[in-house]
Amino acid sequence: MAVSTLTSPGMSFQLSEEHLAVQAAARDFARTELLPGVIERDEHQTFPAEQVRKMGELGFMGMMVDPKYGGGGLDTIAYVLAMEEISKVDASASVVMSVNNSLVCWGLETYGTEAQKRKYLTRLATGEIIGAFCLSEPEAGSDATSQKTTATDLGDYYLLNGTKNWITNGSTASVYLVMAQTYPEKGHRGINALLVEKGAPGFVVGRKENKLGIRGSDTHSLMFTDVKVPKENRIGDDGFGFKFAMATLNGGRIGIAAQALGIASGAYELSLQYAKERKAFGKEIAQHQAIQFKLADMATHIDAARLLCLQAAYLKDTHGDYTKAGAMAKLFASRVAMETTVEAVQIHGGYGFVKEYHVERLMRDAKITQIYEGTSEIQKIVISREILK
Ligand code: CAA
Repeated sequence: MAVSTLTSPGMSFQLSEEHLAVQAAARDFARTELLPGVIERDEHQTFPAEQVRKMGELGFMGMMVDPKYGGGGLDTIAYVLAMEEISKVDASASVVMSVNNSLVCWGLETYGTEAQKRKYLTRLATGEIIGAFCLSEPEAGSDATSQKTTATDLGDYYLLNGTKNWITNGSTASVYLVMAQTYPEKGHRGINALLVEKGAPGFVVGRKENKLGIRGSDTHSLMFTDVKVPKENRIGDDGFGFKFAMATLNGGRIGIAAQALGIASGAYELSLQYAKERKAFGKEIAQHQAIQFKLADMATHIDAARLLCLQAAYLKDTHGDYTKAGAMAKLFASRVAMETTVEAVQIHGGYGFVKEYHVERLMRDAKITQIYEGTSEIQKIVISREILK
């Protein structure tokens, strides 16, 4: 009988000095650079441009990229630790970081040509420019094989036509990874992934979405009308685009899981501090069992979510199959983010319902982690397929 282990064999619970240093640097950056102004950026939907620039300087925009392409050469565990700390304070900044690291840089480094890496990856990894990952369409969200955007093969170039929706970094990116159908008769095997530069004639950034959460990040629709994309901008073999997107999302989900973990642990830390300060019925509310039970649940769920995130990161770093582990981490951590932030608002009472106490924003930010990079239902499809295969 197969023995089921809680964590993967060989996985260590001991973080290295380097991991701890990255975690401390991210925590310090979040408190000093992201916390001031986070409420205003949320309210006015202001992109954290200056903060993202500094994240690039500190190496947070291309953490896992090989140093020869300007990256940090760190592992996925370091990335998860940094994502958690930054997401505790500002999930808008962390989604910019997540898309750039896990989807754009990783996808390009893993599947791009040397020329593509030299041209784009170095600038993306240093944060000089940021990237966007364009898979979702008005009629193709979860059902990602149903791409309507077309990339018609015209010899030296593709002619790109169609619309993409809900694109993170939609207006601030300089380079876009766009999935489009070249051979509709081949279904998902006819899809290509193309690198498209901002400013290409026929490429228009559409309206900005007015969102429930992560309001500091810029989410746009994109329109492509007869955009010429040179053949050398295709990622991988002809028709590899859907596999490219799926493989990239397998790792991307670890980043979003870590974002959800950070939203949860940020709300928990604020709740713990508040419960020790706020008095009701003659004592600190932390002395009331009703609050203690909430804190105990939060702490337990957050630790479990963190272990799943670290397990997925460990498997990615050790070249294990991390598809199931990444989907499990995202499924669970996003649920924990939602439940924990709702309870955080409850612990704060009326103060939790106003903006100055941060937890209402974290509650709004939590919801997207159950939707993007695959809804919770998609994660269950991915997990069950892996279990049953
Ligand atoms: N890893 C690697 N390959 C995969 C894969 C995975 N997780 N899932 C599917 N594939 C491969 C399959 O093996 C298959 O290849 P073959 O034909 O060679 O066997 C091919 O892809 C097609 O697979 P399916 O027939 O299983 O496809 P499907 O239509 O049944 O469903 C799905 C696949 C898992 C539901 C997929 O469509 C999916 O993941 N949907 C969610 C899309 C998503 O996450 N979108 C997020 C947008 S990006 C974003 O959100 C970024 C942001 O803003 C932060």
